[in-house]
Amino acid sequence: MKRIMLLAVCLLLVGSVFVSSEAAEKKKWRIGFSQCNLGEQWRANMYEELLRAVERHSDELELIHKDAQLDTTRQQAQIREFISNYENGLIDCIVIVPKESAPFTPLVKECYDMGMPTIVADRDVLTDDYTCFIGGDNMVVGRAAGEWMREKMAGKSAKGVELQGMMTTVPAQERNKGFLEAIKGADMEIIFRADANWMEAAGRKEMESALSRFDQIDFVYSHNDPMAHGAYLAAQSAGREKDMLIIGIDGMPHEGIAYVKTGQMDATFVYPSGMDTTIETILKLKRGEKVPKRIMLNTTLYDKDNPNGKTVGTNREIWDLEAERAKN
Ligand code: FRU
Repeated sequence: MKRIMLLAVCLLLVGSVFVSSEAAEKKKWRIGFSQCNLGEQWRANMYEELLRAVERHSDELELIHKDAQLDTTRQQAQIREFISNYENGLIDCIVIVPKESAPFTPLVKECYDMGMPTIVADRDVLTDDYTCFIGGDNMVVGRAAGEWMREKMAGKSAKGVELQGMMTTVPAQERNKGFLEAIKGADMEIIFRADANWMEAAGRKEMESALSRFDQIDFVYSHNDPMAHGAYLAAQSAGREKDMLIIGIDGMPHEGIAYVKTGQMDATFVYPSGMDTTIETILKLKRGEKVPKRIMLNTTLYDKDNPNGKTVGTNREIWDLEAERAKN
């Protein structure tokens, strides 16, 4: 009798372990997603891609999305809320798309240090203390833009304008650095540069100042397409749009690519949102698989000669940061 009882208890125990591990596997992961702003076209598009990717895995994932509406303090508070949600078992991982780099670095580190799977997307932070970074390679994009312009300006003593994104973000810093690297040694001079905060209206205003100060402007390098379009509108109302080449970054079908088609811009480089990769990476983490430290996405050039796009660079997975840094 005793033996039968013991066997029954063992069977019950084995059964409950089996059931609970099955339950753990089946359990949905709740993603806390902190987005810096949804009021820009590129970010609205990023959100749509995110929703589609989550929807494809709705049996495994659930999304809790917070939009900070371009407010650093609000985004910090929303991340704090996610941290306490994690402590209370209400979310399982976090994706942070920070408005700026420095003010979010300690928070990213805090999430990671408490053991929460922490993904940083698009705008980099100033620490390696995260699970995975996923985004476009802004050095590659900046260099590609510089090489494109260098080729077009060959044989000319060229003067240009650089409309910068928010320079407190890594994408703007790297787009600036990559471009300058690529035009080094060429007879090209940036005679006017301004931080236009990624915004079309500010880009237009800065370009109006540049036009009023300089008679010769041969090129405009803008860190994104909205500011490039602002520059075009300013040049057009000054009757000078045909004197210069204007290029930008983002390459969205209804924005940059459309402007290239209509001749309002001369080239655009796609800056991928990375949302499909982000969701794939979260699913891997959920299954307990290892993921790369950084996933850097390539770009695609659209211009008159490449109306259907030309891929520049390759997607890269970086597993070993030290080895990667030693290479550079
Ligand atoms: C949107 C945006 C894009 C740009 C990206 C850089 O907020 O300004 O136009 O490519 O952010 O992070």
